[in-house]
Amino acid sequence: MSEKEKSNKEEEITLRIWSAIIEDGRAMRAYTKQDNVYMSHLNNQPKIRSLLENGSVLEVGPGTGKYATMLIEKFNVRKYTVLDLKENIEDSLSNLFDQQKKIRKSKGKPETEIEGIYAENYSSLFGQEFDVLIANNVFTETPKKYRENLLNNVMINCKSSMIHDQIEENDAIGLEPMGSFYKELYSKVYNKVIFEPTGYSNCYCLIGYNDVKEGQI
Ligand SMILES: C[S@@+](CC[C@H](N)C(=O)[O-])C[C@H]1O[C@@H](n2cnc3c(N)ncnc32)[C@H](O)[C@@H]1O
Repeated sequence: MSEKEKSNKEEEITLRIWSAIIEDGRAMRAYTKQDNVYMSHLNNQPKIRSLLENGSVLEVGPGTGKYATMLIEKFNVRKYTVLDLKENIEDSLSNLFDQQKKIRKSKGKPETEIEGIYAENYSSLFGQEFDVLIANNVFTETPKKYRENLLNNVMINCKSSMIHDQIEENDAIGLEPMGSFYKELYSKVYNKVIFEPTGYSNCYCLIGYNDVKEGQI
């Protein structure tokens, strides 16, 4: 495919749909079930754990919402916002609202504010502040312009980010790998950046936050 054809295809995909992986006319619902892998990397990140405690989270592409429910339970997250495709977002929202009803209420735990945003309304997130940005195995299946516009405008207002993604392989449309984009963006926003491989399918854990040393404001 020539560069021009690639660019046209990308433009067409960005304008028409929000996911690059379509099966039977709708976005695929292939969830990874790697929540324990994500959690194992978080266990080594005290700074992100402390930001999660009673904090606010934006999760892009939460799938079933299993990881979201784990984080809420463990850290008593104050506000949890999910961004997903209109046709898939109920997969996570239904579990999150169920968790409020069945678990948190019965244990007398404070309710977490849950918010769902459809992918086509992603620009409504610009300017909003979050403690932690989470996105697990999502961006490889999104159009390049969408993910770059979203991340460029949202990460600057997130105190930390913990994204799991395949950064060495081409994305679903066959465009370039996302590694250099992520490296540039993370190092622009954060002074502490750690990219570590996970045991899952060439996936990396991409961590970023601002490490304020004693004596610094
Ligand atoms: C491979 S699944 C991963 C789900 C979950 N994070 C996990 O690790 O199991 C990709 C997720 O991204 C969502 N998704 C696809 N395109 C998206 C877009 N443009 N914006 C937000 N979410 C999107 C899908 O609906 C799905 O929830």
